Amino acid sequence: MLRTHHCGELRSEHAGQTVTLCGWVHMIRDFGGAKFIVLRDRYGITQTTIGPDSSEAVHQLGAELKSEYVVKVVGEVMQRPDGQTNPKMATGEIEVRVDQLEILNESDVPPFTPGQVEELPNEDIRLKYRYIDLRRTEMQKSLYLRSRIVKTMRDYFAENDFIDIETPILGRSTPEGARDYLVPSRVHPGNFYALPQSPQIYKQIMMIAGYDRYVQVARCFRDEDLRADRQPEFTQLDLEMSFVDSDDVLAMIDGLMKRLAKEILNLEIQTPLPRMTYDEAMERFGHDAPDLRFGMELVDCTDIAAECEFRVFRGVADAGNKVRGINVRGVAKEFSRKRIDELTTYVREDFGAKGLAWMRVEDDGSLGGPIAKNFAPEILEKFKARFEAEPGDLFLFIADTWEVSCKALAGLRKRLGAELELYDPSEMHFSWVVEFPMFHFNEDENRWDAMHHPFTAPRDEDLETLSEQPGAARAKAYDLVINGYEAGGGTIRIHQNTIQQAVFGLLGMTESQANERFGFLLDALKFGAPPHGGIALGIDRIVMIFGGLDNIRDCIAFPKNAKATDLMTDAPNTVDQTQLDELAIQLQEIESSNA
Ligand code: AMO
Ligand code: AMP
Repeated sequence: MLRTHHCGELRSEHAGQTVTLCGWVHMIRDFGGAKFIVLRDRYGITQTTIGPDSSEAVHQLGAELKSEYVVKVVGEVMQRPDGQTNPKMATGEIEVRVDQLEILNESDVPPFTPGQVEELPNEDIRLKYRYIDLRRTEMQKSLYLRSRIVKTMRDYFAENDFIDIETPILGRSTPEGARDYLVPSRVHPGNFYALPQSPQIYKQIMMIAGYDRYVQVARCFRDEDLRADRQPEFTQLDLEMSFVDSDDVLAMIDGLMKRLAKEILNLEIQTPLPRMTYDEAMERFGHDAPDLRFGMELVDCTDIAAECEFRVFRGVADAGNKVRGINVRGVAKEFSRKRIDELTTYVREDFGAKGLAWMRVEDDGSLGGPIAKNFAPEILEKFKARFEAEPGDLFLFIADTWEVSCKALAGLRKRLGAELELYDPSEMHFSWVVEFPMFHFNEDENRWDAMHHPFTAPRDEDLETLSEQPGAARAKAYDLVINGYEAGGGTIRIHQNTIQQAVFGLLGMTESQANERFGFLLDALKFGAPPHGGIALGIDRIVMIFGGLDNIRDCIAFPKNAKATDLMTDAPNTVDQTQLDELAIQLQEIESSNA
């Protein structure tokens, strides 16, 4: 070992000992005669001092030190005099007098200094120089948090008799509905492997093979548009269980969340976690992963709109669409026209809403604002009652299709909840959304698509009416929601070949298409498949939420940027012509778009 202690370790009780520390030069403070060099390693920082008691050689070498040099210091641990201790620093009671100094390595001037980042450089710079960025305490903290979360998960499932099984990365296209990443085969020119969007089919096959409880920390690959909570390559805690129904899977995850909350955040949470159906979530919050840390629930006024004279509302209600709103409590005076105009632009541009109507509750309890004059007094009274109006409230309305009204109002609710600080950002809220629809109608392709994936079982009571009323069928499907994020999702699977065939049929897949894509699963289902189900949790998202981060990239060591590029290694990149020839791949003319 090059060192006797690490940089987070020394306290008063070490005073008088001679120690050896290694680390990076975190900060240099020069006071003429004395020089303070703060050393940093993974464990912390320690102040070392080159002063009157240090040798001339140490002074000379000390003068060469610069930010991020790697050094070794030998010296005596000195108790800091009263008044000079630093309670903010774990090692703030002591400093180390530098008796010997060795420069283990120099450093170029870093693009930013991890020790003194008042304002972070833009993210592209951080990603390009990731090794510097990863030196920052915040990044170390989030990777350490990630490691602890994954360890807790692994321990929990091992204790519950799950067996950890690896599934292939080079495989066949899987059914999660995103675009696949493809890998060309050299041995079979013109053929491709697909990287797994999840281990879904393999884990079901493991149940058919009798393994009963499977778990994996699994890398998944999806070529989809990126957002702050999505990566093209991400990690799931993936599991599957046999001879279970939804309640058993939920109870297993309830136990995990209770344990994670306790071990990671020292938080007691009540289990079973609350559950809400998909229909209720959409009705009350317009979203299938609602943030339940605050209210501001959606208020349906379609029936009131149907009897009013205001053209915008009446037309929408008569067309069978929705007039719904939210009550933003107590802001009528503070919200300027400009702020409401900004919200109007937001719902138009982000959600395709046609407008944003509003009314305010005046001090005398009457309703004001430009559209109020369109309503008869008894209609205004109905709006007031429906919104439980108090003076100072602001009602925001979206009149549109059910879908647009859900999206726009959920967007407004989320944005205003954050802007008005309606919740404590450190609060954690865990819940389940259950009984998702089996299918949603794909207007572009004029057919039904699976809401989760095509192996999801319908509720028993919906089996008979499945083919007549696919839109009404509800699935044995459940999502784990934390603070408004979908942190996990799973289902009970279809374990009977005939039902699986029927669902493929509803999804517009002919028997031969189904056989071509999933024949091996359909075959396996004929050989004694047990009832089974499971779930996958998004580990990156869970770390992000537990760490209070708002960007998924901050809890991944080497993430891709919003254009799916790894800026440090510059992947993806071109390959040699010989590699392409071996794969029998010929490139089309591509406009250089790598900029
Ligand atoms: P699903 O597609 O819902 O289910 O994924 C499960 C969880 O994985 C996380 N997740 C992501 N995290 C980061 N970046 C992404 N691009 C991304 N996509 C998904 C989410 C999500 O809830 N095979 C099924 C699970 C099952 O049925 O057992 C599946 O993959 O947190
Ligand atoms: P207009 O009569 O079209 O000027 O609209 C009057 C108000 O209603 C404006 O504030 C519009 O933003 C709003 N508005 C128009 N269409 C809708 C709609 N579909 N939903 C909610 N508000 C709307």
